[in-house]
Amino acid sequence: MFNYFNMFYIIANWKMNKTQDEAIDFFTKINSLNCFKSSLCKILISPPIIHLSAVEQYIGKVGLVAQNISCKESGAYTGETSINMLSSKVSHILIGHSERRKYFHETSLQLLEKLQLCIKKKIIPIFCFGEKLIHRDSNVFLSYIKDQLSETIFSFDKHEISNMILAYEPVWAIGTGKNANAAQIKEVHDFVREILIKKIGHSSALKIPILYGGSCNSNNAQTILKVDNVNGLLVGGASLDFDHFRKIIEIADDLS
Ligand code: 13P
Repeated sequence: MFNYFNMFYIIANWKMNKTQDEAIDFFTKINSLNCFKSSLCKILISPPIIHLSAVEQYIGKVGLVAQNISCKESGAYTGETSINMLSSKVSHILIGHSERRKYFHETSLQLLEKLQLCIKKKIIPIFCFGEKLIHRDSNVFLSYIKDQLSETIFSFDKHEISNMILAYEPVWAIGTGKNANAAQIKEVHDFVREILIKKIGHSSALKIPILYGGSCNSNNAQTILKVDNVNGLLVGGASLDFDHFRKIIEIADDLS
């Protein structure tokens, strides 16, 4: 296993799930866990934005992530949430999740604006990218991924990029129960690390965590976390059940 940090991020993305009471119950349980042997395992949870204020007082051992922000800072944008409303509550924000791209038609230009706001407000973006099945089947997935990164994060300077987290989430693996296998994950993570090295140099590129997401669970977490250049997991469905998520944390904690 080759992990530049010897630490793992385990991030729960709850998407549009859980009531406020369920969210508080989960945070209460996670704070009572004794499995954090290693301080080298960083746990973050991304509940629906509406629950952030309610769970804030329970965060303890875990950090908070927002699932989305508006690309505008304020104004007549009904239904949107500004980064200014979240900056005191979260340390990280998910940007570019494939569900935002697919269902809300978010473009690279909008993602760029969101990234600029994160940089301005000093909140760490977790930038999601990944190919659809059609790109993998036609063997153009690496160039597709390179374009996704070129249109967004590579507009920033070396210092700004080295304060980002990247998350490879192949669209065909999200919510399908069909995770990418170790070889597929290694190929993409090594490729992204190489591009980062070319763009911003060795020492800055090695500081950027590259996470994997897409049907992660307690059965495949260990295999995926052992892949070179995998610095953590972004977990959807399997993060909703407390006992299941706890098992994933324990696996990462043992490996870190
Ligand atoms: P699943 O773990 O449910 O496949 O979701 C992954 C994801 O989209 C995390 O952001």
